[in-house]
Amino acid sequence: MASDSESDSARYKRLAAEHAVDAIQSGMRVGLGSGSTAALVVRALARRLAEGRLTDVVGVPTSRATEELARALGVPLTTLDEQPVLELAIDGADEVDPWLGLIKGGGGALLREKIVAQASTRFIIVVDEAKLSPRLGTRWPVPVDVLPFGWRSQQRFLESLGARVSRREGPEGTPFLTDQGHFVLDCAWGPLEAPAALAERLAARAGLVEHGLFLGLASEVVVAGPRGVEVRRPG
Ligand code: A5P
Repeated sequence: MASDSESDSARYKRLAAEHAVDAIQSGMRVGLGSGSTAALVVRALARRLAEGRLTDVVGVPTSRATEELARALGVPLTTLDEQPVLELAIDGADEVDPWLGLIKGGGGALLREKIVAQASTRFIIVVDEAKLSPRLGTRWPVPVDVLPFGWRSQQRFLESLGARVSRREGPEGTPFLTDQGHFVLDCAWGPLEAPAALAERLAARAGLVEHGLFLGLASEVVVAGPRGVEVRRPG
């Protein structure tokens, strides 16, 4: 629902979220992303369930925050253990390139987000147009989820690949911890020439649990801006 005080960015996020929720059909198992745009998806889904426009939808949340929101709004939840294959997942992104490559993990939920995306037949991304970027890494560092064990070795490894690395901080200067109790290293490389090659290097490193490059995963990106909503598809 629109409000007078809603910022442009908030309105675009809401428009993208509402458009993506149109893809949810009764009976579907749906991955629920994390972050402010994904929260609008959960809200729109909850409204449609409450109004009876959708029935028998179950969600798999990608973070504790999303789980709490969905529970508070009465969205039925399940797990990947119970439902290992999902028809659809809808999530936000921090940066989107022209080939629909993504950087995700601004909220630190990238590990569960990627697991849920890969378990889903269709993966819809919802963004406002400020997230569009000519090259990944232009606007956002790549978040990397690492085990606390040996994290300084991971820092050195990432620096050896040319990144400026900072461990994400939580409240009062304590390390930010993911829902799995891992650290997040934010890695600024600047605009990436070869994100796929970098993703391979990162995937091969023990202790480095997951990275925020989501390449070849998005089936659609719903972008909202002043000209309305546009849906981008790969190829
Ligand atoms: C959460 O870990 C992220 O991947 C989010 O999807 C991403 O940070 C986008 O968040 P916003 O919708 O709040 O911008």
